[in-house]
Amino acid sequence: MKKINSYEEYLSNYEKSIEDPTVFWSDIAKTFHWHKQWDNVLEWNFDEPSINWFKGAKLNITENCLDRHLDSNADKTAIIWEPNDPKESAQHISYEELHQRVGIAAQMLKNNGVNKGDRVCLYMPMIPELAIAVLACARIGAIHSVIFAGFSAKALSDRVNDATAKVLLTADYGVRATKKIPLKEIADNALESCATIEKVIVFKRLDGSVNMKADRDFWWEDEILKVNGVSAKVESMDAEDELFILYTSGSTGQPKGVVHSTAGYMVYAEYSFRNVFQYNDKDIYWCTADIGWITGHSYIIYGPLLAGATTLMFEGVPTWPNPGRFWEVVDKYQVSLFYTAPTAIRALQACDLSFVDKHNLSSLRVLGSVGEPINEEAWKWYHINIGKGNCPIVDTWWQTETGGIMIAPLAGITPLKPAFATLPLPGIQPCLVDADGNEIEGNDVEGNLCVKFPWPSMLRTTWGDHDRCKLTYFSTYKDKYFTGDGCKRDEDGFYRITGRVDDVMNISGHRIGTAEVECAINTHETVVESAVVGYPHDIKGQGIYAYVICTVFDDESLMKKEIIQQIIKEIGPIAKPDKIQIVSGLPKTRSGKIMRRILRKVAEGDTSNLGDTSTLLDPSVVEEIKIGAIK
Ligand code: WTA
Repeated sequence: MKKINSYEEYLSNYEKSIEDPTVFWSDIAKTFHWHKQWDNVLEWNFDEPSINWFKGAKLNITENCLDRHLDSNADKTAIIWEPNDPKESAQHISYEELHQRVGIAAQMLKNNGVNKGDRVCLYMPMIPELAIAVLACARIGAIHSVIFAGFSAKALSDRVNDATAKVLLTADYGVRATKKIPLKEIADNALESCATIEKVIVFKRLDGSVNMKADRDFWWEDEILKVNGVSAKVESMDAEDELFILYTSGSTGQPKGVVHSTAGYMVYAEYSFRNVFQYNDKDIYWCTADIGWITGHSYIIYGPLLAGATTLMFEGVPTWPNPGRFWEVVDKYQVSLFYTAPTAIRALQACDLSFVDKHNLSSLRVLGSVGEPINEEAWKWYHINIGKGNCPIVDTWWQTETGGIMIAPLAGITPLKPAFATLPLPGIQPCLVDADGNEIEGNDVEGNLCVKFPWPSMLRTTWGDHDRCKLTYFSTYKDKYFTGDGCKRDEDGFYRITGRVDDVMNISGHRIGTAEVECAINTHETVVESAVVGYPHDIKGQGIYAYVICTVFDDESLMKKEIIQQIIKEIGPIAKPDKIQIVSGLPKTRSGKIMRRILRKVAEGDTSNLGDTSTLLDPSVVEEIKIGAIK
């Protein structure tokens, strides 16, 4: 696949992609390996919604990730794995070896009863076997659902049950910095309420000192041996067959299973990867995300492997054994393309510069940012101290639902502007709308961000509940996909995402619904009601502030600890509130609606102007909340 080489070419490609999307995308799709060509490039209708890209085509995405590279690049490293502990050995897995290990793992899944269309849940640490398992599912047409290994047993069982998964892949333990995470034990707790799981396959990351349930649990290593080196037959998939489910937070308490399908996702993953990062064959590419999130799916596994790149997988954390770990790894492997999250940048920015300066970062060519708005200060620090002023920063805006990067600079090709995601990729038609759903034309404007034309990697449905997909994304504004984000378009036509306009928070780049946290808090027996809001946080972007009404309790600090424990149990540590304020009432309108605007203001520490409170049922609760606000 050719990449865009100049700004002029970007402009002409963009124009072509809008004027004639089917020709534009079919030219790109031709560079992939298909069992059968498509009959029709695009059929769509946002009302239902019904989206079909490359209808009638047959393919397998893993042949495009693996087999396709074997002729010329069999020995090239596909995956570099850097372990949590730098004293442990790293792994280099070539394309040939990865191809073989995926084929064998796929056969292992088959032997354990997994067939095309079955759902397989992956609750695994950041080890090569996670990438292998993802690809093994795709090889045989099973639908993978990766569940972030920081989620609790309850969150895991909710997701397994929603997907009615047949097999769970996990590990004895995960390791992060000095912590050992008992993944198998958590999975055991989760599975007590999961009736559909028939088999659990457990990879031994540590010593294997875990309980194994007879006839249900099997060791990965044993199951691989039983395959006898035979690779599974590749399944020929329809273009629109589901590739994966990935659960993400929305404005209700229940996360939704975003469904991506095969061909469109594939085409867009490679196209966006090559163009945004301006990938060259010699690049060493590192995305620090976790495979439990969409960034890991599209830009650790699929995008880079489709492009035949060397992709680095990192098991550890940025600050252990010291805050120089990222830079040490960049230096060690001569990483040239580096993709991380603003929250990590801000955390490292707060540490001594000597942790950066100790390492040679001259291999870096492009820096990326994803997951939340990057503030100007962090952008500049990243640009000057990591990129030494020489590396373009691609601030990439996109979502679990969009499957791939939507608005971002193409490194070194299109203009940069600190804190701006800048311009849409070819094929992407963003628009801003006002509260009445009218499109806002022109520049120097602000509104809600929508997309008015399909792109290949967009979500197709939400698992088991198509109406929810329609309602959440396609009903707010007619004939438009609604992103849930607010956005500015400046005088030059550059886009700047200003943050969510719905009840979704963005905590360290992780999407968490306020309703989800409230549901978790409300499961505590002495809690009557709660309201959760996000507030600006120096490192995490947003912090979580919870207002909680309780019945009797003796010790306030103990009560707060219990609430935190409850959230860890229901969701996981990522959803722990930074501040909990016990209150006797919440500011409600006469119709019983919580006025979150007031709670947000108090959480921001700005109580000077709370706006009109006259419509409140009991304005006096506001005074109490102001007095008790947690600084
Ligand atoms: C936010 C992550 C500003 C946004 C790929 C979006 C961003 C949500 C950016 C999706 C960015 C992501 N600038 N905001 N460059 N990238 N976001 O589904 O609010 O985990 O709606 O996908 O993150 O988060 P998700």
